[in-house]
Amino acid sequence: MQHVLVTGAGGYIGSALVPQLLAAGNRVRAVDRFFFGRDTIPAPQADRLEVVQEDCRYLTPAHLEGIDAVIDLVAISNDPSGELFQQATWEINRDARVRCAALARDAGASRYILPSSCSIYGFQPADVITDETAPTNPLTTYAQANEKAEDGTLALADENFSVVVLRQATIYGYAPRMRFDLAINGMTYGAWKTGKLPLMRDGTQWRPMLHVADAAAAQIFMLEADRDAVNGHIFNVGSADNVYQIGPLAELVAARVPRDVEIEWYGDPDERSYRVSFDRLHGLGFRTARTAEDGVDEICAALDGGDLDKTPRTITLDWYRQLHDWHAIIRELEMHGGMLEIDSPEREP
Ligand SMILES: NC(=O)c1ccc[n+]([C@@H]2O[C@H](COP(=O)([O-])OP(=O)(O)OC[C@H]3O[C@@H](n4cnc5c(N)ncnc54)[C@H](O)[C@@H]3O)[C@@H](O)[C@H]2O)c1
Repeated sequence: MQHVLVTGAGGYIGSALVPQLLAAGNRVRAVDRFFFGRDTIPAPQADRLEVVQEDCRYLTPAHLEGIDAVIDLVAISNDPSGELFQQATWEINRDARVRCAALARDAGASRYILPSSCSIYGFQPADVITDETAPTNPLTTYAQANEKAEDGTLALADENFSVVVLRQATIYGYAPRMRFDLAINGMTYGAWKTGKLPLMRDGTQWRPMLHVADAAAAQIFMLEADRDAVNGHIFNVGSADNVYQIGPLAELVAARVPRDVEIEWYGDPDERSYRVSFDRLHGLGFRTARTAEDGVDEICAALDGGDLDKTPRTITLDWYRQLHDWHAIIRELEMHGGMLEIDSPEREP
């Protein structure tokens, strides 16, 4: 039972993690700007769940008061968004997270968990299974910022303050803040909706996969793991039986979606390809529980039930681009505290 600060709590992983943390009996302080809406996590609950709307670049010591552990999910969370908003990506993904770790340590928290990404391996030869000791090869701003966040936060580890980096595989599965810009999720939606499964060229690229509930479970596992065994260490998160070449993965998804499906190729050949070893985390006793098929099934069930649809909010890049464009328009047009309805007490009806 710990008091856990989760940043980026309203995001894809956070919206799966917060209920799991609560179910395990923890207290949660959920911090987010809520770019994807405030309804992705439960409403505040006295003494159990505190919801704080704040930009993580503006965290103060007060945000960390009384916290035992931090799970620092906040980020501009994919490669194309990272390229379009490079300065924000460095500020949020690296600077704000290193600063959050320092604030946590100064406030007396004992654990800090950085959910990073296997994408920092970038491109690795197909015959190499990369482990945590291998040289990294971050190809994008997003991956480079993650690597610098790893360096900056690990440097803060000491005997009282445990820092753990989790390099997560590409995530899939249903969560309240849904993302259809992730491989399995996007393939499943296309196949379910139109019978055309979008497949990024050339299909030979290797990618490890991780169910969103297993990602959350690994983070919770690290809250309770033997500190001496994990402090200052990096762990790849996933499992050997969930690593695919994208082409065969597409065939798996196509076979699982209950309709006729054909493959529709898109994009330039993906330069990112990596096979990853999960032995270090398995050595601690952590096991994932869900397969790729489980993710496809639950997404299809949510789509069938009308609980889920593909909206601009489910495509991270599109949503950030829209927010950026709307902000410019609103700043230009807003007058007297509003647009059509304005703050004007003396106005005649
Ligand atoms: N989804 C994946 O496949 C995957 C894989 C590996 C690693 N990761 C990492 O996991 C973390 C979470 O990813 P996700 O898929 O949940 O992303 P997400 O985009 O769904 O969630 C990020 C959350 O951070 C919030 N946020 C962004 N900037 C903020 C700011 N300045 N202040 C406060 N809140 C802000 C957003 O509102 C959003 O709720 C990221 O660090 C990402 O790099 C994700």
